[in-house]
Amino acid sequence: MSVSKSDYMSNVWADGIFADRVVFITGGAGTIGSAQTRALVHLGANACIIGRNTEKTEAAAKEIAKVRNGARVIGIGGVDVRNFEALKAAADRCVKELGAIDYVIAGAAGNFVAPISGLSPNAFKTVMDIDTIGTYNTIKATIPHLVASASRNPNPNPAGRTGGRFIAVSATFHYTGMPLQAHVSAAKAAIDSLVGSLALEYGPLGVAANCVAPGAIAGTEGMERLASNRIAKADLDRGVPSGRWGTVRDIADATVFLLSEAGNYVNGTTLVVDGAGWRRQGGL
Ligand code: HXC
Repeated sequence: MSVSKSDYMSNVWADGIFADRVVFITGGAGTIGSAQTRALVHLGANACIIGRNTEKTEAAAKEIAKVRNGARVIGIGGVDVRNFEALKAAADRCVKELGAIDYVIAGAAGNFVAPISGLSPNAFKTVMDIDTIGTYNTIKATIPHLVASASRNPNPNPAGRTGGRFIAVSATFHYTGMPLQAHVSAAKAAIDSLVGSLALEYGPLGVAANCVAPGAIAGTEGMERLASNRIAKADLDRGVPSGRWGTVRDIADATVFLLSEAGNYVNGTTLVVDGAGWRRQGGL
C-alpha cells in the first residue's frame, strides 16, 4: 500500500526542520509509530525504530526511508521493551550508526480487551510490564544520550535546532476509568506520572519530557480490538465531540509540534489529541 504525505502529516511544517536530528522510537513499526517516524524523517530526521518482530521492523524501516532521499532509517528487531539490556544495546547501536539520539518516542504498548474478572494476575502484569516498565526501560536506556543532545542543542538556540526531547505515547482512559481496559488505564496513568518526574529531574539539564495521548485513532490495532467488542463499541459510539475518529496524521502532527522549535517551552505535560473524546468516555 503506498503512503502519501497527507496520510502522515499536514502541510504546515517546513522541510528540513529536523535535518541531522536522530529519533529513537519503540513501536516505530506500528500504525501510529510509523506515521510519527515518517513525518520526522520527511522533515529531515534519521531514525532508529525498535520492535519485537524483526521482519516487520526491518521492512517498516525500509518503507519509511523512502519518504526522503538520503534518509537513514534503521530497524532493530527482536527487542522487547521489557528487556532493559536489549534496549540499551539498541540505543548504543543507534548512536554508533546514526551518531546521536536527539529525540525518543516510547510508543511500544500491549493491549487486549478484558474485564477485571477476566484478567489473570499475569495478564494485568503483562500490560504493566510492556507499557509502564517498558517506558521506564526506554527512559533508562536513552537518557544519557538525551542529556548529551540537550547540551549540544541549548533551548532556544539561533539555529532553531532542538534536542533532548522525550515523548511517551499515553492514553486518556485513566482520566475517567475505562471498562475492559483497567490494565491499560493503570499502566498509562503510571506513564503520565513517570514523565512528570522525568521533566522535573531532567528539565534543568535541558531535556523536555511530554506525553501525547491519542483518542480513538482509526486503523490502529488498539481501536480494532476495542471496536470489535460490543461493550467497548457502545462506549465509542457515544461519539467524539469533534465529530470524527482521529487519524495517525493527527498524532504525527502533535509529535512534530512537540519536537520542533514551536514546542520549546512545553515540558512535563500531556498533549491530548482526541477531539475531546475523553469527556464523553468511561460509561457503560
Ligand atoms: C485476557 C489475556 C488476553 C485476553 C492475553 N491474556 N490476551 N487475558 N484476555 N484477550 C493474558 C494471557 O492469558 C497471559 O496470562 C498474559 O495475558 C500474557 O499473555 P502472553 O500472550 O503470554 O503475553 P505476550 O506474548 O507477552 O503478549 C502480550 C500481549 C499481546 C499484550 C498479550 O497482545 C501483544 O503482544 N500485544 C502487542 C501488540 C498490541 O497489543 N498492540 C496494541 C496496542 S494498543 P496467563 O495468566 O494466562 O499467563 C494500545 C492502545 C491502548 O496499547 C489505547 C487504545 C485507544
